[in-house]
Amino acid sequence: MTKHEPQPRICDYEGSNYRTEFWEGRGRDYEDRVERLVLRRMLPLSGRRLLEVGAGFGRLTGEYDMFAQVVLLDYSLSQLQYAQEQYGRSPRFVYVAADAYKLPFQPGVFDGVTMIRVIHHMAKVDEVLAQVRRVLVEKGTFILEHANKRNLKAMLRYALGKQDWSPYDLSPVEFVELNFDFHPSYIKHELKRAGFAIQQRTPVSFFRLQSLKDRVPTDLLVSLDAMLQPTQMLVSPSVFVKSIAAGTSPNHLDSTTLFACPECGGSLNRIDDTMVCERDGRRWAVRDGIYDFKASVDER
Ligand SMILES: C[S@@+](CC[C@H](N)C(=O)[O-])C[C@H]1O[C@@H](n2cnc3c(N)ncnc32)[C@H](O)[C@@H]1O
Repeated sequence: MTKHEPQPRICDYEGSNYRTEFWEGRGRDYEDRVERLVLRRMLPLSGRRLLEVGAGFGRLTGEYDMFAQVVLLDYSLSQLQYAQEQYGRSPRFVYVAADAYKLPFQPGVFDGVTMIRVIHHMAKVDEVLAQVRRVLVEKGTFILEHANKRNLKAMLRYALGKQDWSPYDLSPVEFVELNFDFHPSYIKHELKRAGFAIQQRTPVSFFRLQSLKDRVPTDLLVSLDAMLQPTQMLVSPSVFVKSIAAGTSPNHLDSTTLFACPECGGSLNRIDDTMVCERDGRRWAVRDGIYDFKASVDER
Protein backbone atom coordinates (compact mmCIF):
# COMPACT_ATOMS: atom_id res chain seq x y z
CA MET A 1 0.00 0.00 0.00
CA THR A 2 1.37 3.43 -0.92
CA LYS A 3 1.38 6.29 1.58
CA HIS A 4 -1.70 7.93 0.12
CA GLU A 5 -3.71 4.89 -0.91
CA PRO A 6 -7.30 5.81 0.02
CA GLN A 7 -9.59 3.68 2.12
CA PRO A 8 -12.07 2.29 1.12
CA ARG A 9 -10.17 1.18 -1.98
CA ILE A 10 -10.84 3.00 -5.25
CA CYS A 11 -11.01 1.62 -8.76
CA ASP A 12 -8.62 4.13 -10.25
CA TYR A 13 -9.22 5.26 -13.85
CA GLU A 14 -6.41 7.83 -13.81
CA GLY A 15 -4.80 7.88 -17.25
CA SER A 16 -7.05 5.06 -18.51
CA ASN A 17 -8.40 4.99 -22.07
CA TYR A 18 -11.92 4.20 -20.87
CA ARG A 19 -13.52 6.32 -23.59
CA THR A 20 -11.72 4.76 -26.53
CA GLU A 21 -11.27 1.26 -25.12
CA PHE A 22 -14.83 0.79 -23.88
CA TRP A 23 -17.17 3.15 -25.71
CA GLU A 24 -16.19 4.84 -28.92
CA GLY A 25 -16.13 2.41 -31.82
CA ARG A 26 -16.43 -0.55 -29.43
CA GLY A 27 -19.89 -1.79 -30.42
CA ARG A 28 -21.70 -0.37 -27.39
CA ASP A 29 -24.09 2.04 -29.15
CA TYR A 30 -26.99 -0.08 -27.95
CA GLU A 31 -25.97 0.17 -24.27
CA ASP A 32 -25.27 3.88 -24.58
CA ARG A 33 -28.63 4.60 -26.22
CA VAL A 34 -30.79 2.61 -23.82
CA GLU A 35 -29.07 4.21 -20.85
CA ARG A 36 -29.74 7.69 -22.23
CA LEU A 37 -33.35 6.70 -22.86
CA VAL A 38 -34.04 5.73 -19.26
CA LEU A 39 -32.06 8.67 -17.95
CA ARG A 40 -34.25 11.07 -19.96
CA ARG A 41 -37.34 9.37 -18.64
CA MET A 42 -36.16 9.73 -15.05
CA LEU A 43 -34.59 13.19 -14.98
CA PRO A 44 -36.78 16.02 -13.68
CA LEU A 45 -38.04 18.66 -16.13
CA SER A 46 -35.91 21.36 -14.53
CA GLY A 47 -33.38 21.75 -11.76
CA ARG A 48 -30.86 24.07 -10.17
CA ARG A 49 -27.66 22.12 -9.57
CA LEU A 50 -26.87 18.54 -10.57
CA LEU A 51 -23.95 16.46 -9.32
CA GLU A 52 -22.79 13.54 -11.44
CA VAL A 53 -20.75 11.20 -9.25
CA GLY A 54 -18.16 9.29 -11.28
CA ALA A 55 -18.88 11.33 -14.40
CA GLY A 56 -15.83 9.90 -16.18
CA PHE A 57 -15.09 11.67 -19.46
CA GLY A 58 -18.54 13.29 -19.52
CA ARG A 59 -20.30 10.71 -21.70
CA LEU A 60 -23.74 11.63 -20.32
CA THR A 61 -23.21 15.34 -19.59
CA GLY A 62 -25.22 16.34 -22.67
CA GLU A 63 -28.34 14.88 -21.04
CA TYR A 64 -28.38 17.42 -18.21
CA ASP A 65 -29.57 20.51 -20.12
CA MET A 66 -32.50 21.02 -17.73
CA PHE A 67 -30.11 21.86 -14.87
CA ALA A 68 -28.77 25.40 -14.49
CA GLN A 69 -25.44 24.07 -13.21
CA VAL A 70 -23.73 20.70 -13.61
CA VAL A 71 -20.95 19.51 -11.32
CA LEU A 72 -18.90 16.67 -12.77
CA LEU A 73 -17.05 14.71 -10.10
CA ASP A 74 -14.62 11.89 -10.74
CA TYR A 75 -11.57 10.44 -9.02
CA SER A 76 -9.68 10.62 -12.30
CA LEU A 77 -8.24 13.98 -13.22
CA SER A 78 -7.49 12.80 -16.75
CA GLN A 79 -11.15 11.81 -17.38
CA LEU A 80 -12.24 15.25 -16.19
CA GLN A 81 -9.66 16.98 -18.36
CA TYR A 82 -11.25 15.35 -21.40
CA ALA A 83 -14.74 16.38 -20.21
CA GLN A 84 -13.50 19.94 -19.75
CA GLU A 85 -12.16 19.95 -23.32
CA GLN A 86 -15.66 19.00 -24.55
CA TYR A 87 -17.81 21.24 -22.35
CA GLY A 88 -15.39 24.07 -21.72
CA ARG A 89 -14.78 26.29 -18.75
CA SER A 90 -17.88 28.19 -17.75
CA PRO A 91 -19.77 28.76 -14.50
CA ARG A 92 -22.34 26.24 -15.77
CA PHE A 93 -19.86 23.34 -15.59
CA VAL A 94 -17.78 22.64 -12.51
CA TYR A 95 -15.11 19.93 -12.60
CA VAL A 96 -14.14 18.23 -9.36
CA ALA A 97 -11.52 15.52 -8.86
CA ALA A 98 -12.47 13.82 -5.60
CA ASP A 99 -13.33 10.57 -3.90
CA ALA A 100 -17.06 9.80 -3.83
CA TYR A 101 -16.62 8.47 -0.28
CA LYS A 102 -15.60 11.99 0.81
CA LEU A 103 -17.69 14.40 -1.24
CA PRO A 104 -16.14 17.88 -0.87
CA PHE A 105 -19.46 19.72 -0.62
CA GLN A 106 -21.60 21.46 1.96
CA PRO A 107 -24.83 19.67 2.92
CA GLY A 108 -27.93 20.29 0.80
CA VAL A 109 -26.28 21.98 -2.18
CA PHE A 110 -27.71 19.79 -4.97
CA ASP A 111 -31.28 19.11 -6.08
CA GLY A 112 -30.17 16.30 -8.38
CA VAL A 113 -27.50 13.58 -8.29
CA THR A 114 -26.77 10.89 -10.86
CA MET A 115 -24.42 7.95 -10.51
CA ILE A 116 -24.25 5.73 -13.59
CA ARG A 117 -21.94 2.71 -13.92
CA VAL A 118 -20.08 3.70 -10.77
CA ILE A 119 -21.49 1.92 -7.73
CA HIS A 120 -20.28 -1.41 -9.15
CA HIS A 121 -16.79 -0.16 -8.19
CA MET A 122 -17.82 0.53 -4.58
CA ALA A 123 -16.97 -1.87 -1.77
CA LYS A 124 -18.79 0.33 0.78
CA VAL A 125 -22.20 1.04 -0.68
CA ASP A 126 -23.63 2.39 2.58
CA GLU A 127 -20.85 4.98 2.88
CA VAL A 128 -21.21 6.37 -0.62
CA LEU A 129 -25.01 6.50 -0.41
CA ALA A 130 -24.78 8.40 2.89
CA GLN A 131 -22.55 10.96 1.17
CA VAL A 132 -25.01 11.39 -1.69
CA ARG A 133 -27.90 11.82 0.75
CA ARG A 134 -25.94 14.43 2.73
CA VAL A 135 -25.35 16.73 -0.25
CA LEU A 136 -28.93 16.53 -1.55
CA VAL A 137 -31.72 18.89 -0.53
CA GLU A 138 -34.92 17.45 0.85
CA LYS A 139 -36.91 15.84 -1.99
CA GLY A 140 -33.89 16.09 -4.28
CA THR A 141 -33.70 13.48 -7.06
CA PHE A 142 -31.15 10.68 -7.08
CA ILE A 143 -30.76 8.48 -10.16
CA LEU A 144 -28.59 5.45 -9.57
CA GLU A 145 -27.58 2.76 -12.05
CA HIS A 146 -26.35 -0.56 -10.70
CA ALA A 147 -25.16 -3.82 -12.18
CA ASN A 148 -27.75 -6.53 -11.46
CA LYS A 149 -26.53 -9.94 -10.24
CA ARG A 150 -30.03 -11.44 -10.69
CA ASN A 151 -29.98 -11.17 -14.47
CA LEU A 152 -31.22 -13.75 -16.97
CA LYS A 153 -27.76 -14.86 -18.06
CA ALA A 154 -26.57 -15.33 -14.46
CA MET A 155 -29.73 -17.26 -13.59
CA LEU A 156 -29.24 -19.57 -16.56
CA ARG A 157 -25.56 -20.14 -15.87
CA TYR A 158 -26.31 -20.87 -12.21
CA ALA A 159 -29.07 -23.34 -13.15
CA LEU A 160 -26.65 -25.14 -15.51
CA GLY A 161 -23.95 -25.28 -12.85
CA LYS A 162 -21.61 -22.99 -14.81
CA GLN A 163 -21.46 -20.32 -12.10
CA ASP A 164 -20.68 -20.90 -8.45
CA TRP A 165 -22.34 -17.79 -6.97
CA SER A 166 -26.09 -17.59 -6.60
CA PRO A 167 -27.89 -14.74 -8.39
CA TYR A 168 -30.60 -14.99 -5.71
CA ASP A 169 -28.32 -14.38 -2.76
CA LEU A 170 -28.74 -10.79 -1.53
CA SER A 171 -25.09 -10.02 -0.80
CA PRO A 172 -22.94 -8.30 -3.48
CA VAL A 173 -20.65 -10.49 -5.58
CA GLU A 174 -17.15 -9.20 -6.39
CA PHE A 175 -16.52 -11.05 -9.66
CA VAL A 176 -13.28 -9.14 -10.39
CA GLU A 177 -11.41 -6.97 -7.89
CA LEU A 178 -13.51 -3.84 -7.21
CA ASN A 179 -16.22 -4.90 -9.65
CA PHE A 180 -19.46 -5.83 -7.94
CA ASP A 181 -22.87 -7.07 -9.07
CA PHE A 182 -25.76 -6.27 -6.77
CA HIS A 183 -29.14 -7.83 -6.09
CA PRO A 184 -31.95 -5.26 -6.68
CA SER A 185 -33.33 -5.96 -3.20
CA TYR A 186 -29.93 -5.23 -1.64
CA ILE A 187 -29.75 -1.84 -3.38
CA LYS A 188 -33.36 -1.12 -2.41
CA HIS A 189 -32.55 -1.89 1.22
CA GLU A 190 -29.38 0.24 1.20
CA LEU A 191 -31.15 3.19 -0.43
CA LYS A 192 -33.88 3.13 2.22
CA ARG A 193 -31.29 2.86 4.97
CA ALA A 194 -29.46 5.90 3.61
CA GLY A 195 -32.64 8.01 3.67
CA PHE A 196 -34.06 7.63 0.17
CA ALA A 197 -37.61 6.88 -0.92
CA ILE A 198 -37.59 4.83 -4.11
CA GLN A 199 -39.93 6.10 -6.83
CA GLN A 200 -39.12 3.90 -9.78
CA ARG A 201 -36.90 0.96 -10.75
CA THR A 202 -36.28 0.33 -14.42
CA PRO A 203 -34.54 -2.68 -16.00
CA VAL A 204 -32.19 -1.73 -18.83
CA SER A 205 -29.98 -3.40 -21.44
CA PHE A 206 -31.87 -6.70 -21.83
CA PHE A 207 -30.07 -7.49 -25.10
CA ARG A 208 -26.49 -6.99 -23.97
CA LEU A 209 -25.22 -10.03 -25.87
CA GLN A 210 -22.58 -9.68 -28.55
CA SER A 211 -24.18 -12.40 -30.73
CA LEU A 212 -27.51 -10.52 -30.70
CA LYS A 213 -25.95 -7.14 -31.26
CA ASP A 214 -24.03 -8.55 -34.25
CA ARG A 215 -27.21 -9.85 -35.90
CA VAL A 216 -30.02 -7.46 -34.97
CA PRO A 217 -30.08 -3.78 -36.00
CA THR A 218 -29.34 -1.47 -33.05
CA ASP A 219 -32.50 0.59 -33.70
CA LEU A 220 -34.63 -2.54 -33.24
CA LEU A 221 -32.82 -3.60 -30.06
CA VAL A 222 -33.23 -0.11 -28.62
CA SER A 223 -36.97 -0.12 -29.46
CA LEU A 224 -37.44 -3.54 -27.87
CA ASP A 225 -35.53 -2.43 -24.77
CA ALA A 226 -37.67 0.70 -24.56
CA MET A 227 -40.75 -1.54 -24.58
CA LEU A 228 -39.40 -3.80 -21.86
CA GLN A 229 -38.17 -1.02 -19.54
CA PRO A 230 -41.65 -0.16 -18.16
CA THR A 231 -42.39 -3.83 -17.34
CA GLN A 232 -40.23 -3.54 -14.21
CA MET A 233 -38.95 -7.10 -14.73
CA LEU A 234 -35.66 -6.66 -12.89
CA VAL A 235 -33.78 -9.44 -14.71
CA SER A 236 -31.65 -7.27 -17.00
CA PRO A 237 -27.89 -6.77 -16.42
CA SER A 238 -28.43 -3.13 -15.48
CA VAL A 239 -31.06 -1.43 -13.33
CA PHE A 240 -31.78 2.29 -12.95
CA VAL A 241 -33.34 3.42 -9.67
CA LYS A 242 -34.93 6.82 -9.19
CA SER A 243 -35.21 7.94 -5.57
CA ILE A 244 -36.17 11.05 -3.67
CA ALA A 245 -34.25 12.29 -0.65
CA ALA A 246 -36.60 11.56 2.25
CA GLY A 247 -36.73 13.26 5.65
CA THR A 248 -35.34 16.68 6.31
CA SER A 249 -32.09 18.28 5.21
CA PRO A 250 -30.71 21.79 4.87
CA ASN A 251 -31.35 23.66 1.64
CA HIS A 252 -28.25 25.55 0.55
CA LEU A 253 -29.08 25.73 -3.13
CA ASP A 254 -28.91 29.53 -2.97
CA SER A 255 -25.65 29.62 -1.06
CA THR A 256 -22.55 30.72 -2.93
CA THR A 257 -20.56 28.31 -0.74
CA LEU A 258 -20.56 24.99 -2.55
CA PHE A 259 -17.43 23.30 -1.31
CA ALA A 260 -16.42 21.90 2.07
CA CYS A 261 -13.19 20.27 3.17
CA PRO A 262 -13.44 16.55 2.30
CA GLU A 263 -11.48 15.66 5.45
CA CYS A 264 -13.18 17.73 8.17
CA GLY A 265 -16.21 19.37 6.52
CA GLY A 266 -14.88 22.87 7.26
CA SER A 267 -15.64 25.82 4.99
CA LEU A 268 -13.10 26.63 2.30
CA ASN A 269 -11.79 30.02 1.25
CA ARG A 270 -10.33 30.44 -2.20
CA ILE A 271 -6.97 32.20 -2.33
CA ASP A 272 -5.72 32.37 -5.91
CA ASP A 273 -5.66 28.75 -7.09
CA THR A 274 -5.86 27.22 -3.64
CA MET A 275 -8.83 26.37 -1.45
CA VAL A 276 -7.93 26.74 2.22
CA CYS A 277 -9.93 25.04 4.97
CA GLU A 278 -10.98 27.44 7.73
CA ARG A 279 -11.05 24.63 10.28
CA ASP A 280 -8.00 22.43 9.76
CA GLY A 281 -5.91 24.65 7.47
CA ARG A 282 -5.62 21.97 4.75
CA ARG A 283 -5.03 23.37 1.28
CA TRP A 284 -6.50 22.01 -1.96
CA ALA A 285 -5.37 22.99 -5.44
CA VAL A 286 -7.41 24.21 -8.40
CA ARG A 287 -5.53 22.95 -11.44
CA ASP A 288 -6.41 24.52 -14.80
CA GLY A 289 -10.00 25.02 -13.68
CA ILE A 290 -10.39 21.57 -12.05
CA TYR A 291 -10.84 21.47 -8.27
CA ASP A 292 -8.48 18.80 -7.01
CA PHE A 293 -9.57 17.21 -3.72
CA LYS A 294 -7.75 13.91 -4.22
CA ALA A 295 -4.95 14.87 -1.87
CA SER A 296 -4.25 18.17 -0.14
CA VAL A 297 -1.36 20.31 -1.37
CA ASP A 298 0.50 19.51 1.86
CA GLU A 299 0.16 15.73 1.39
CA ARG A 300 1.58 15.66 -2.13
C1 LIG B 1 -17.23 2.79 -15.61
S1 LIG B 1 -16.79 4.47 -15.41
C2 LIG B 1 -18.35 5.29 -15.69
C3 LIG B 1 -18.20 6.72 -16.11
C4 LIG B 1 -19.53 7.42 -16.45
N1 LIG B 1 -20.42 7.44 -15.33
C5 LIG B 1 -20.18 6.75 -17.63
O1 LIG B 1 -21.21 6.06 -17.44
O2 LIG B 1 -19.68 6.91 -18.74
C6 LIG B 1 -16.59 4.57 -13.66
C7 LIG B 1 -16.10 5.94 -13.20
O3 LIG B 1 -16.18 5.99 -11.77
C8 LIG B 1 -15.06 6.66 -11.27
N2 LIG B 1 -14.85 6.25 -9.88
C9 LIG B 1 -14.62 5.02 -9.39
N3 LIG B 1 -14.48 5.06 -8.06
C10 LIG B 1 -14.63 6.36 -7.69
C11 LIG B 1 -14.58 7.04 -6.44
N4 LIG B 1 -14.36 6.41 -5.28
N5 LIG B 1 -14.77 8.38 -6.45
C12 LIG B 1 -14.98 9.06 -7.59
N6 LIG B 1 -15.04 8.46 -8.80
C13 LIG B 1 -14.86 7.13 -8.85
C14 LIG B 1 -13.93 6.24 -12.19
O4 LIG B 1 -12.85 7.15 -12.15
C15 LIG B 1 -14.64 6.20 -13.54
O5 LIG B 1 -14.51 7.41 -14.24
